[in-house]
Amino acid sequence: MEIKEIRLEELDPKKFVEEKIKEISSIVGDSLAVNALSGGVDSSTVTMLGHRALGDRLKTYFIDNGLMREGETESIVSRFKNLGVNVKLVDAKEIFFDRLKGLRDPEEKREAITQTFYKDVFNKIVRNSGAKYLLQGTNYTDVEEAVKGIKRQHNILEQLGIDTEKEYECKVIEPLIQLRKPAIREIAKFLGLPEEIHNRPPFPGPGLAARIIGEVTLEKVEIVRKATKIVEEELRSTKIFQCLAILHEDKVTGVREGKRDYGWQVEVRCWDSKDAVMASPTRLPYDILDRLAERITGEVVGVVSVTYNITKKPPLTIEAL
Ligand code: XMP
Repeated sequence: MEIKEIRLEELDPKKFVEEKIKEISSIVGDSLAVNALSGGVDSSTVTMLGHRALGDRLKTYFIDNGLMREGETESIVSRFKNLGVNVKLVDAKEIFFDRLKGLRDPEEKREAITQTFYKDVFNKIVRNSGAKYLLQGTNYTDVEEAVKGIKRQHNILEQLGIDTEKEYECKVIEPLIQLRKPAIREIAKFLGLPEEIHNRPPFPGPGLAARIIGEVTLEKVEIVRKATKIVEEELRSTKIFQCLAILHEDKVTGVREGKRDYGWQVEVRCWDSKDAVMASPTRLPYDILDRLAERITGEVVGVVSVTYNITKKPPLTIEAL
């Protein structure tokens, strides 16, 4: 089936929302639907649309993979609670860390996270929920990239070899499939989602694991989580596309209080970009860089080196994997 894009210029948010609510209600009827919320703009918008259409007959789950930023899981769940949406939190940290054990290759790590999500965790949730329908936040760019073979999209189930009717006993509903991100942000705003959600900077599906070079361990996630918090705090007021901290695999020799300190290296990236396809490092003032180095080496135990990456995308990518 050919999918036709609805461009931002031709989008009428009120009409779109009314149509989608009607469509979801009529497809689901008296049955139940299920969806997974990550807090990103796509899954948040789908959650709100589904909630408006179905109320309590939409079962929304937040799967905590242990790879989120500090306080992120709790804040997303409570934000939705305030909007009247009851989100069930599923603690799946152990299984994700278990599946990531020993993996160092970036693609193997991504694959492990995707497979763990869809095949070990989410399918059990869906089957146990009694739902007949699965609401999914697939967008137009996902479809386009999948068709062109640019990227394996984590949310296109068919591409992951998942037959939802067989494995989940559910039919998929994709209300955002005709929209790209800027249009989805408009719908999110129209649905009353707060600025932190409708304007949320991108955060990768594999979470902080996309920012750890080499094996992902609890200790390393803790380091990158603390460094990320500092980077986001220091750069929040700057008009940037995205900023991040990456933890390197190799340690280097440092010195503290006159003694050798063999410690971790953190790399900071801060990007100017329109659409993440091409990006340039932000020309940050030196005093900000200086503060980042001071805070990260001072507040994150074990880090002795902070660098700033000055490479453009391409050839680099925004995340480390
Ligand atoms: P890269 O690293 O490919 O990232 O230059 C481009 C943009 O996409 C985000 N990103 C992801 N988003 N799932 C996502 O939902 C992913 O697996 C993923 N990987 C990267 C990244 O943060 C950047 O904005």
